[in-house]
Amino acid sequence: MNKKLLINLDLQILPIEQAQTTPAAWAYEADFHTLDLNAVLRQSWQYAGHISQLKKVGDFFALTIAERSIVIIKDAEGAIYAYYNICKHRGGPLTNETEGNISRFKCMYHGWTYNLSGELKGIPEFSGAEKFEPCDYGLSELKLDIWQGLIFVHMGNPQIALSNLLSGIEERISPIALDKLELATQTVDTINCNWKLYCENYQEGYHLPHVHPNLSKLLDYKSYRTELFDNYSLQYSPFKASSESIYKDGSGEAYYYFIFPNIMLNILPGRLQVNRINAVEAGRCNVHFDYFYKDPKSVEGQKFLKDDLEYSIEIQKEDISICEAVQRNLASGIYKQGRFSPKRETGVHQFQSLLKQAYKRYLEQNDER
Ligand code: FES
Ligand SMILES: [Fe+2]
Repeated sequence: MNKKLLINLDLQILPIEQAQTTPAAWAYEADFHTLDLNAVLRQSWQYAGHISQLKKVGDFFALTIAERSIVIIKDAEGAIYAYYNICKHRGGPLTNETEGNISRFKCMYHGWTYNLSGELKGIPEFSGAEKFEPCDYGLSELKLDIWQGLIFVHMGNPQIALSNLLSGIEERISPIALDKLELATQTVDTINCNWKLYCENYQEGYHLPHVHPNLSKLLDYKSYRTELFDNYSLQYSPFKASSESIYKDGSGEAYYYFIFPNIMLNILPGRLQVNRINAVEAGRCNVHFDYFYKDPKSVEGQKFLKDDLEYSIEIQKEDISICEAVQRNLASGIYKQGRFSPKRETGVHQFQSLLKQAYKRYLEQNDER
């Protein structure tokens, strides 16, 4: 990383009443994108998908997380593994598909094959190679763990077990059980803003009256609250008694969890929407929406899906528009950094504090400071 940036990097964490927001450069300098990948996104549990996407032996799906292509697959014993989508011969891809069912991996370049447990099994036209042991050329595996049916992977050495990271959520949302849900559909938006801006925007309701005028008519803004936990926050936004909403069916609360660094779980009875924010470059991110329901094919499930999509689209458009405007302004060089509302921006302050901790840990471990 650029030495000048490192010397000026202020990682001090102050209470919200005194703290400044992180500098604008963190949202547009390419060096910070690299730092985010190495220090944060590749050093944290990352949501990949749900067990309902892998029903049969050989079912797989592929995705990109922090610029790395990954395949998640169910092997012959029913165990779920995550591998980098990279052949050990000369780095070819194992698949270009986003999902499917296979009996073995076959590299797309020269046809090396691997079984579902990642062992190299087929090596065409390789006789004569010396000191070559196929067992040294198995696929590179990522750590994987499952919580409430949600599959998470980790590219580094986890500082914390997944169950500890998410502890408290299961009890709080009970009797809702996320592992009983089924994936209904997936959508993705490409947004011209830094991934952190989109995450920060999610973590405060301060912008609701200004950015989401229609939604604000339904919500009781005065009762909006944010609860902070060690590695996540929970937002609660009740509907006005007088409002009509598909989400106000009297059957329970809505929970809006933000899991540091880039995962959102929007939980309602019988449905879950997961947002995964994938950093593409300093000024661009992809927001992936996964929609889950108890029975997505039923009439009720189809109606949930239609309503959810309609409801999300308007709000998402408004959020995209404001996040992209902020990105342009931060990149203008005119704005340097700002302050927090101690009442309304506790979630953003916690996010930036956890980000600074992650930067600090990484830079100390790698002797860059
Ligand atoms: S790179 Fe995979 S077989 Fe050559
Ligand atoms: Fe918003």
